[in-house]
Amino acid sequence: MRRRVTLFFVVSVLLLAGVRMVSARKLQAPSVDDVTSGAQLYDKWYAALGQPAPQGNMPIWERQTTNTRSGAETWRCAECHGWDYKGSEGAYSAGSHYTGFPNVLKLAAGMTTEEIGAHLKGSKDPSHNFSAYLDEASLQKLALFLKEGLIDDSQYIDTVTLKVKDGDAAHGKKLYDATCAKCHGENGKQIVFRTEGINEYLGSVANRDPYRFLHRTRFGVAGTEMPIGRALGWTPKDGVDVLAYAQSLPTGTEQEQTGNAGAGSAAPQKVGGPFPGVFGGIITGLLAFFGMIGLSGVLLFVLVLFGLLVIWALRKRQ
Ligand code: HEC
Ligand code: HEC
Repeated sequence: MRRRVTLFFVVSVLLLAGVRMVSARKLQAPSVDDVTSGAQLYDKWYAALGQPAPQGNMPIWERQTTNTRSGAETWRCAECHGWDYKGSEGAYSAGSHYTGFPNVLKLAAGMTTEEIGAHLKGSKDPSHNFSAYLDEASLQKLALFLKEGLIDDSQYIDTVTLKVKDGDAAHGKKLYDATCAKCHGENGKQIVFRTEGINEYLGSVANRDPYRFLHRTRFGVAGTEMPIGRALGWTPKDGVDVLAYAQSLPTGTEQEQTGNAGAGSAAPQKVGGPFPGVFGGIITGLLAFFGMIGLSGVLLFVLVLFGLLVIWALRKRQ
């Protein structure tokens, strides 16, 4: 009898310790599906891959003069084809982002994943060749995103006022308070975005560029700890409802140059997360590793102690 009790405790202690270690590892590496990775590459592939942007302008950039940005920005799929994926037929049909470059929502619908992959390697236009910078797996993820991940958001957004049509802002507020407020703040002002020399709040992004808001709420922002709507199981409509609520948040913008003149507003808060840089990465890794081992150790210790106590009690009774 005594032996069986001892065996039972040893086995359950080992089992529990195992479960604890597995769940700790799962928490550290949230799985991102291929469509989501493709979407993050579409957003800013060099950032998603953790590499520097190519030097100079993307060769195709010189075919237009209306969009006067230069350098890294000109290499982003989103800068040429838009956050609504409709290029010159969508939100970028006018304004400073206008290039005249085409609508991939329409074009990709008429192509196979293989054809899109080949196009990204310059099969049709040698200047549209990204294979020197992106590996085969990344090109495949991009093609998959263009084939399966694109959503025509003009069904949700009024293309003139940029306001959400038929959004459920009350439902959006619930989702926002539960998932977004801890980083962005209840009023969306806790993280200040720096967009081309202007500092702006989440409410400003929601109103100025709702398509970008939806893309990033669905697919996250590469290199940040921001949750990914798609991974949370959110439907497209859930994201739209959050956008509807976010459009009611404060929209203040501050000129970067004004310095402390903008001191009346709350200072941006640092977001928690891994330390920056290579050494930061190593330190973060080590901390996570020892944190995990430490926790498992404490758990193990408590369980063993408990086990011994029970065995001792049983023995005493006999
Ligand atoms: C500098 C602007 C620019 C960038 C950056 C850019 N494209 Fe394009 N893209 C174009 C132009 C112009 C065309 C149409 C002419 C051509 O095929 O080169 C095009 C065409 C396409 C097509 C349609 C191909 C067809 O056969 O009709 C797809 C799909 C596409 N791009 C996807 C992407 C993806 C994905 C990225 C990011 C890796 C990207 N593009 C980056 C300018 C750009
Ligand atoms: C863990 C912290 C965290 C949480 C939680 C979080 N975010 Fe973010 N979010 C960030 C960070 C960091 C950035 C990138 C900031 C930057 O680029 O300067 C960001 C960027 C964004 C952007 C892009 C803004 C732009 O200028 O393009 C949007 C939109 C956004 N978040 C919406 C949301 C929504 C909606 C939620 C809730 C589903 C959410 N975030 C939850 C940290 C978070």
